[in-house]
Amino acid sequence: MSAVTYGDHTKDVDDLELTKFAVPRDVESNQVLLKTLATPVNPSDLLLIRGVYGAFPPKVKLSETDPVVHVAGNEGVFEVSKVGTSIEGYSEGDWVILTSGRLGTWRTHVLVDFPSGGPEPLFKVKNAGEGGLKDIEGATLSVNPPTAYQLVHNYVKDWNSDGRDWIVQNAGGSHVGQFLTQFARMLNVNVLSVIRGGKPNHDEIVTELKSLGATAVITEDQAQSEEFRNHELRSIFNGGNVRLAINCLGGASATALFLMLSPDGAMVTYGALTNDPITYPSRWQQYNNLTTHGYFLTGNTKKNPQSKIDTLNAVLKLYKSGKLQVPPATLLEFKDGNLLELYLQVIKSGKKGIVKYI
Ligand SMILES: NC(=O)c1ccc[n+]([C@@H]2O[C@H](COP(=O)([O-])OP(=O)(O)OC[C@H]3O[C@@H](n4cnc5c(N)ncnc54)[C@H](OP(=O)(O)O)[C@@H]3O)[C@@H](O)[C@H]2O)c1
Repeated sequence: MSAVTYGDHTKDVDDLELTKFAVPRDVESNQVLLKTLATPVNPSDLLLIRGVYGAFPPKVKLSETDPVVHVAGNEGVFEVSKVGTSIEGYSEGDWVILTSGRLGTWRTHVLVDFPSGGPEPLFKVKNAGEGGLKDIEGATLSVNPPTAYQLVHNYVKDWNSDGRDWIVQNAGGSHVGQFLTQFARMLNVNVLSVIRGGKPNHDEIVTELKSLGATAVITEDQAQSEEFRNHELRSIFNGGNVRLAINCLGGASATALFLMLSPDGAMVTYGALTNDPITYPSRWQQYNNLTTHGYFLTGNTKKNPQSKIDTLNAVLKLYKSGKLQVPPATLLEFKDGNLLELYLQVIKSGKKGIVKYI
């Protein structure tokens, strides 16, 4: 059985290793053995491997007999394959996700210890035999949909359903952005998505984003042009109320979003992909009573674990009722062979990818 692992001095994805390990025939009474069904590759997985977060998560044991290692990956969906005798609430065939990303997910199996009196390490997404949830939906459930859901719901509590409220966002083609668009559409809230221009398939991207619910899609160059903001953008907003600016990039892109806000609006930063600082005219903030916030799902969940569970349940309900869809991603299948090569293929493609284990 295989895992994609890294060492204490790993600095880039080229340093990742393939580690083979033994899957136990039996589990201890307080353990559950999981078989991996699918895992995505997220930008934060790569930041973690590259050491951007300062410290790696602790090493984990792949099995009772193998050495402990860092396992890459944060997210994934798993099928329960063995349940220890003292564990209640789980059966063979249930689908689960891990409640902490610290165990690592880019591996064929996970042996999970249930600490006595400790936090629940698993969250069940589907009972054995129950339909209604696809593997790619479960695989990508725990990071981007809850982030997008909380960005829409945590900062404005009184959205008007009259179709005049707006959210503006940059990185509008990101998975978070595409989930956010869908959640906003459910509330009849308009979304202006800003994306990078100049791609050969630009029109196709715009059509896709609009089909998910984006009201308008413009390029970074347009968003950052004062002329465009003062004329075309005004006619796009058509007197509507721009209440929320959702920033994933920083720098000039964030400034442009900030300048689009209506009085009493708020800008929320959940990513810093350009690494550039954000500047804005203080008078613009002062006279328009604009607020700024930082958003961090992991930090919020640490402070209030129930908030994540409530959000996951809300998202699961939407998936199971067919109202939400996973944005397009490259799907790769792992049957046997080299697991590491498959993940490197996804990473080096630069596209959003999900590895399905079949
Ligand atoms: N704060 C939190 O709790 C939290 C939770 C989840 C995710 N995040 C963060 O959210 C971000 C998006 O995650 P994701 O999984 O949705 O990513 P994703 O699907 O891989 O999308 C990344 C997007 O960022 C755009 N982008 C990247 N660099 C850019 C640049 N320099 N200028 C303009 N656009 C740029 C890409 O545009 P192109 O399509 O043009 O390449 C793409 O649309 C990541 O930074 C992630 O770490 C934060």
